[in-house]
Amino acid sequence: MGLTTGFEKIVRQDEPLQMHTWFQLGGPAEYFAEPENTDQLVELVCRCHEEGVPTRLLGRGSNILVRDEGLPGMVIRLFKPAFCDIRVDGCVLTVGGGAKLGRAITTAVHEGLAGLETLIGIPGTLGGALHGNAATHGGDIGQWATGATVLTLTGEVLQRTHDDLVFGYRQSSLNELAILEATFDLEEDDPKELAKQLQKNWIVKKSDQPMGHQCAGCVFKNPRGSSAGELIDGAGLKGTRIGGAVVSDRHANFVIAESECTSQDVLRLIDLIRTQVHDRMGIELELEMEIW
Ligand code: EPU
Repeated sequence: MGLTTGFEKIVRQDEPLQMHTWFQLGGPAEYFAEPENTDQLVELVCRCHEEGVPTRLLGRGSNILVRDEGLPGMVIRLFKPAFCDIRVDGCVLTVGGGAKLGRAITTAVHEGLAGLETLIGIPGTLGGALHGNAATHGGDIGQWATGATVLTLTGEVLQRTHDDLVFGYRQSSLNELAILEATFDLEEDDPKELAKQLQKNWIVKKSDQPMGHQCAGCVFKNPRGSSAGELIDGAGLKGTRIGGAVVSDRHANFVIAESECTSQDVLRLIDLIRTQVHDRMGIELELEMEIW
C-alpha cells in the first residue's frame, strides 16, 4: 500500500530536520509526520510497523544531533494540541507527552503545586524529559511521576502504573516509542513562594549554562562521582574548535554550533574530547545526547 497512502495530509517526505533540533544541523528525514490525534498516530505507527519502516519519535530536538546524511524511515512529532494538554486535579498534574516541560512546570507553580520547579530551564517536551529522567542537582522528574500512557512500536497503547516506573540517572523504564501522557503527584505550596523559587532557579541555570546558543544540553553523562564538565575543563578543552563546533567557555560539557557548523564538526569535536579526557584522566565519557 505504501507509506503515504491515506496519510497524504500528515506525512511529508525528505523533511529537513535542522529547524526541528536545537543544534539546527543535519540532514532530512525520509518521512516526517505530525498526527492530529491519538487515533491517527496509532494508525500511522501500525502502518509503519506493517511496512517495516523504522520509526522514531522526535520531541523538541533539544537533546539530539542529526547526522549530515539524514536518516531513513519515519520521524513523528507530537506537536498538535491533542498531545500537549496540561490538566490539574487537586495535587495531580496530567501532562501530554508533546507539551513543553517548561509549560508543565509553570502551570504547576501557578496552581500552587511544588516539585517540578527545580527543573525550570530544561528545554524539550514532557515526554523527552520523562524518558531521559531530566534532572538538576535539586531533583529529577521521575520522583514525582505516578503513571503514564505509552505507545509501542507495534501501535499498542498501554498504561504504566507507579510500580512499572523505574528511574535512574538520565534513564527510565519508559522506553517505548512514545509517552502519550503522564501523571505527577505534587505537593501543595504557596504559589508566590514557588514563583520566587522558580525565578531563582532560572537565574542560576542562565548563569551556569550557555542558554540561547545553538547546542543540545550536556553532551556527556557525568561519570560516577565526578562531573564531565569539570573533567573537560580540567583537560584544558574550553574554547577548542573543530570547524564551526566549539567547546563552550561557560560550561565545558556543552558544544556550541556556530555559523557554517556541520554535524560532522560536532561529531569530530566529541571524539577529540573523549580521546583527550581518556588519555589525560583515564576516564571514558559516555554520551548523554542522542545521535540520529
Ligand atoms: N565545572 C567546571 N567547569 C565547567 C563546568 C563545570 O569546573 O566548565 C564544575 C563546576 O564548577 C562544579 C561541577 O563542575 O563544581 C559541576 O558543575 P554543574 O553544577 O554545572 O553540574 P554538572 O554536573 O556539570 C549537571 C547536569 C546538568 C544540570 C546541572 C545542574 C549532567 C551531565 N549534567 O551538570 O544537566 O543542568 O547538573 O543541576 O548530569 C543536561 O543533562 O543536559 C544538563 C545540562
